Amino acid sequence: MDIISLINTRRPETFDLNRTYVNHQLTRVLEVIGFNRTYVSGQGAWLTDDQGVNVLDFLAGFGVFNVGRGHPVVAKVMHDMIDANPPSMVQMGAGCVAGLLAEALAEIAPGNLSKVFFTTSGTESVEGALKFARQATKRARIVYCEKAFHGLTLGSLSVNGNEEFRSRNEPLLPECVSVPFNDLEALEKALSSRDVAAFIFEPVQGKTLRVAAPGYLAGVRALCDTYGTLMVADEVQTGFGRTGKMFAVDHDNVVPDIMAVSKALSGGFVPVGAVIATPEVYDKVFDCMDRCYAHSNTFGRGDLAMAAGLAVLHVLKTENLVAHAAEMGDYLLAGLNALVAKYEMLHEIRGRGLMLGLQFGEPKSLGLKTGWKLIHSMNPDLFCQMITMPLLEKHNVLTQVAGHHMDTVKILPPLTITKAEADFFLTALDSVLKSVHTFPGSAWSSVKNLAVRTAKTS
Ligand SMILES: Cc1ncc(COP(=O)(O)O)c(C=O)c1O
Repeated sequence: MDIISLINTRRPETFDLNRTYVNHQLTRVLEVIGFNRTYVSGQGAWLTDDQGVNVLDFLAGFGVFNVGRGHPVVAKVMHDMIDANPPSMVQMGAGCVAGLLAEALAEIAPGNLSKVFFTTSGTESVEGALKFARQATKRARIVYCEKAFHGLTLGSLSVNGNEEFRSRNEPLLPECVSVPFNDLEALEKALSSRDVAAFIFEPVQGKTLRVAAPGYLAGVRALCDTYGTLMVADEVQTGFGRTGKMFAVDHDNVVPDIMAVSKALSGGFVPVGAVIATPEVYDKVFDCMDRCYAHSNTFGRGDLAMAAGLAVLHVLKTENLVAHAAEMGDYLLAGLNALVAKYEMLHEIRGRGLMLGLQFGEPKSLGLKTGWKLIHSMNPDLFCQMITMPLLEKHNVLTQVAGHHMDTVKILPPLTITKAEADFFLTALDSVLKSVHTFPGSAWSSVKNLAVRTAKTS
């Protein structure tokens, strides 16, 4: 089979195939917002489309490509593994590569988090973490944060704080309750019944880009200890250097009982994730030989995935990417804050390291206010498309809208970005913001047309 020829021959049918067989509504959305480019390759922070145009990828596959696309070290490890034909997934057996990756994760994980259960995705890591917490504490209830995102399978969805994802799936797990993020008083109220298995949180919320306030995580640790609740950090997105530390909880020197990871560990090559727990939790879950499969899966310890993880950790270390992410995060933040000072609708930059949200808000000047109100009355989710659409169409920069009803654009570049790449983005954004701050103008009329088109076709 010549897979490359097959792909090259059928590539022009990409969107038709996706419309017919994969997700017709997503295909429509991509076409309507002009994100329907066909990409043919990716390297580092760049994608190349079928017209030969290079696109700066400030989305990184939702945080998968921390080491950049096609990293040569990870790619070589993948080739080497396939050539070596290792005896992967024997199942009734123990894999060496899984042992090595677990050892490497235990070395970089905070405190005594040293027991590793491997998964194949972020949501599966969260499911595992919730099950471990229930089994270890023999309690049922889970507390989570408003606006939290932990994945979309039913358990993870039960601790998801966004109505648009929950709706049409209810009833979800009945024992889950939400509290506001960064609110220790509300958390204490929720935990004080002493029947809560876990408090699960993102140290930087992926949807809102809100960061754990100083002292919050230490307070969470203390409350969890007081009420016998396990502290579960979801580092699926924030892990592996994204926020300028290996894990985001490291900013506060707080050690959770369980940590869920995934995304960047894959290097973008083979899906992989992990639940990393303390020996105390693990010993309660896997407490006798009968319970060696107290939680299990088929693909979790696959050799290719394990090798990808080892290669990613090697690259993060040898290229000093965690410190680089911190430095580039500061650089981008300074550049973005200069734009906040310059443009009245760009209100605030939130986030940490290379996980940043650009918060837009209502302008003061009369003309812009009219435009702002008009667009929001047509569709509360449209404004940010005025930023992301021209960023891609005119400047070849790929970004995303952070979530529903929040006027936040999110950037999540690879940790490998250079100052030149950061400048490329800042220059592009400056130009887009300039045209968006001209009302009436072409930016406003094109988004108004988009609103009319989507209203007609939805
Ligand atoms: C914090 C967090 N947890 C869990 C998930 C779910 O991961 P996955 O999409 O791999 O299931 C995500 C995905 O974006 C995430 O950001």
